[in-house]
Amino acid sequence: YRVTWDVEAAEKGGYEHFMLKEIYEQPKAIKDTLLPRLRKSDEIKLDSIKITVGNIENLKRIYIIACGTAYHAGLLGKDMIEKHTKIPVIAEIASEFRYSEPLIDKETLMIVVSQSGETADTLAALRLAKEKGARVIAVTNVVGSTISREADDVFYTWAGPEIAVASTKAYTTQIVSLALIALDIAIKKGSISNEKYKLILEELKSIPSKIEKVLEDSEEIEKLADILCKKENIFFIGRGIDYHVSREGSLKLKEISYIHSEAMAAGELKHGTLALIQKDTPIIALVTQDKLYDKTVSNIKEVKARGAYVIAVAKEGNTDIEKSVDNVIYIPEIIDEISSLVSIIPLQLLSYYVAYKRGCDIDKPKNLAKSVTVE
Ligand code: G6P
Repeated sequence: YRVTWDVEAAEKGGYEHFMLKEIYEQPKAIKDTLLPRLRKSDEIKLDSIKITVGNIENLKRIYIIACGTAYHAGLLGKDMIEKHTKIPVIAEIASEFRYSEPLIDKETLMIVVSQSGETADTLAALRLAKEKGARVIAVTNVVGSTISREADDVFYTWAGPEIAVASTKAYTTQIVSLALIALDIAIKKGSISNEKYKLILEELKSIPSKIEKVLEDSEEIEKLADILCKKENIFFIGRGIDYHVSREGSLKLKEISYIHSEAMAAGELKHGTLALIQKDTPIIALVTQDKLYDKTVSNIKEVKARGAYVIAVAKEGNTDIEKSVDNVIYIPEIIDEISSLVSIIPLQLLSYYVAYKRGCDIDKPKNLAKSVTVE
């Protein structure tokens, strides 16, 4: 009798790849990030971050700076913070931010988002902000990382070690962290109603079980990967939060499957990308926003009219979408504000299965590194 598994296989806990394991760890990672920060009375405790009403009143603007997937989480953070606190928020890629002439002063708050806490451009942006007197909060996953040490305040995503180069559980826990920061500033500032605050917290608590549900239905997604794995160009479209999630879905796909992919704001299609749509061009359309549903459906009709093959990601209940598309992946009902936490799951699984069927090295895609410590 020979033991045929090695240490790495054991660490993967029965999963074939770290990426799949990490996708399935998301319900737990989210609970670990969320629950210790909530008190019984639904008060948020942001660990050691002390944001006082005084600090908030003086804030002119907030920058959210990051790279890659962390930047995509930052885009969602921008929407949440701006909407609920009414403070202008700029989300920018670190390598662009540091060479622009950003308006940073003592009335600026910077939030840097970084799984590793070591990304060179993000770290340089943090140093620049501190030099100019801004206060910096780091949202990071690695205790003791350079970014965690140099920031004024740290908020940890308790996602646990992320090994696969393609980030999954770090992304969703970053979104949860940014939601908590948004809600905490908003309630202190009085810019959100108690009802809305409580509703979002309740919905956040329901996310792990909603993600479980999507994970249980992964077989359907695996089947769709059979169609997509033969394609060389795949587009993602969406509006608002769905657009931000599309960008992350597209990044996941190209990182690990090497299929060319682009995410487009659905309303922007007709300003260029529509020229590329022809018979059987695959399009993944996110339609999870109640307030933008009709608008996105009309964009879907535009691409369908050019022969596109459309897979929609929609909320259960919106079954009329079936009339306009070729396939639908349903996700559980969720409020618009935090739909990203559920709608990204099928896109992560889809990328995984497409890359799998193409025989790619999923956990270590070519040319990419987990942590980019050079400029
Ligand atoms: C690399 C990784 C990505 C990650 C990005 C930012 O490109 O491959 O997965 O999103 O760096 O990394 P950070 O550690 O700062 O979140």
